[in-house]
Amino acid sequence: MSKIILTGDRPTGRLHIGHYVGSLRRRVELQESGLFDRIFIMIADAQALTDNADNPEKVRQNIIEVALDYLSCGLDPEKSVLFIQSQVSELTELTFFYMNLVTVQRLQRNPTVKAELQWRGFSESADGADNKAGTPVGFFCYPISQAADITAFKATTVPVGEDQEPMIEQTREIVRKFNATYGETLVEPEIMLPDNAACLRLPGTDGKAKMSKSLGNCIYLSDSEEELRTKVRGMYTDPTHLQVSDPGHVEGNPVFTYLDAFCRPEHFEKFGDCFHGKKVSFDFHSLDEVKAQYRAGGLGDMMVKNFLFEVLNDTLSPIRARRKELEKNLPYVYEVLRKGSEIARSVAAETLADVKRAMRINYFDEGVLEALIEEQQKKYQ
Ligand code: TRP
Repeated sequence: MSKIILTGDRPTGRLHIGHYVGSLRRRVELQESGLFDRIFIMIADAQALTDNADNPEKVRQNIIEVALDYLSCGLDPEKSVLFIQSQVSELTELTFFYMNLVTVQRLQRNPTVKAELQWRGFSESADGADNKAGTPVGFFCYPISQAADITAFKATTVPVGEDQEPMIEQTREIVRKFNATYGETLVEPEIMLPDNAACLRLPGTDGKAKMSKSLGNCIYLSDSEEELRTKVRGMYTDPTHLQVSDPGHVEGNPVFTYLDAFCRPEHFEKFGDCFHGKKVSFDFHSLDEVKAQYRAGGLGDMMVKNFLFEVLNDTLSPIRARRKELEKNLPYVYEVLRKGSEIARSVAAETLADVKRAMRINYFDEGVLEALIEEQQKKYQ
C-alpha cells in the first residue's frame, strides 16, 4: 500500500515556532526522507471559517502568509502538493456523507471540540438574535470535515500536534464505520506525533501553556532578528531565580523548554561564547551541563537567554532569508497553490467516486444506469 501524508493548518495567522517544532520541521524531514509516495499539505481555509464566519477577510489574508511560511521552511512543491482546502469541493461532499456516520453525542465528547467550545465562548446557549452565542453547526462538525480531508487523499499518516489526536481518532472511527457499512473503501490513518516532549506543546514566551496570537506570546517564523532578540530578552523564566547565585528551576521554565526543542550539539561550539562573561565564565558542551549549573545557581538568566537567542536565530535566519525572497515573487507562490489545488482536486475526485460507488449512489456512471433501469423495470412488469 502506498504511504501517503496529509496534514495542514488553519490560516488564521502567521506560523510561529510552536508550529515549527510541533509539525513543520518534521514535515520537511519526512518530505526529504523519500519514505512517502505522496505528501499533501493543506491550507485549511474552510475549516478556519467554521469559527471565523464573520471574518472571512482574516482567513483570506492569511493564506499567503501560511504559504510563505511553508515554502520558507523548506516544503518543496516539486515533492509535496500544497493546496487550499476550499478549492477542493469534493471535500464538502464527502463531509456530508460522513455526517451520517457520526452522532451528535460522539462529537460532544471530542475533547478538542469541548475545549475549543469553551475558550471560543461558543458553549453558552444561543439567544437567537446574536449568532455569536451558541455553537455554529459548521464548527461543531469540523472533526467530520477533517475526516474528509484525510480520507480524500487516502492518507496513511497524519503528522500533527497532540491537540489533533481526538480528530484522528474520530477519523479512524468514521473509516471503520464506512467500510463496515458500505464495504472496504477508505484507508484508516495513523497519527504521527512529535518525538520530543518539548515539541509536543511549546509554551508561550510568557510561560503560558499555549502559544497564541491573542495572548501575544508568540515568536513568529517571520519575526525579524531584532523582534526575536526583544522577545527572547523579555521571556518569562524561573520567578524564584532572583539572584544569579540562587538555585534555578529548569522545569516549567520556557527558556529551557525552547532549548530542549531547538538546541543541537554543534550550538555549543558555535555560540559557547555566550557563557563567557567578565565576572563568571563557563565552558558548556551540552544542554545537560547548562541545566545542572542553572539548578546549582551561579548561572544568570541573561546568559542563557543570549544563548537561546543565538540558537533560535541559527534556525530562523535561513527561513527568514528565504521568506524575503519569496515575498518578492508572489505570483510564483500563488501558482504553487493553484497547481497544487488542481492536483488535490483530481485525487479527491477519485476517492469521492469510490465513495459514491460503495454507497451505490453513482446512478449515472458508465454501465450503472443500464443496470439500474433494468432493476427498476422489474417493479412495473
Ligand atoms: N485542525 C488542524 C488545525 O487546527 C488543521 C487541519 C484541517 C488538519 N484538516 C486537517 C490537520 C487534516 C491534519 C489533517 O491546524
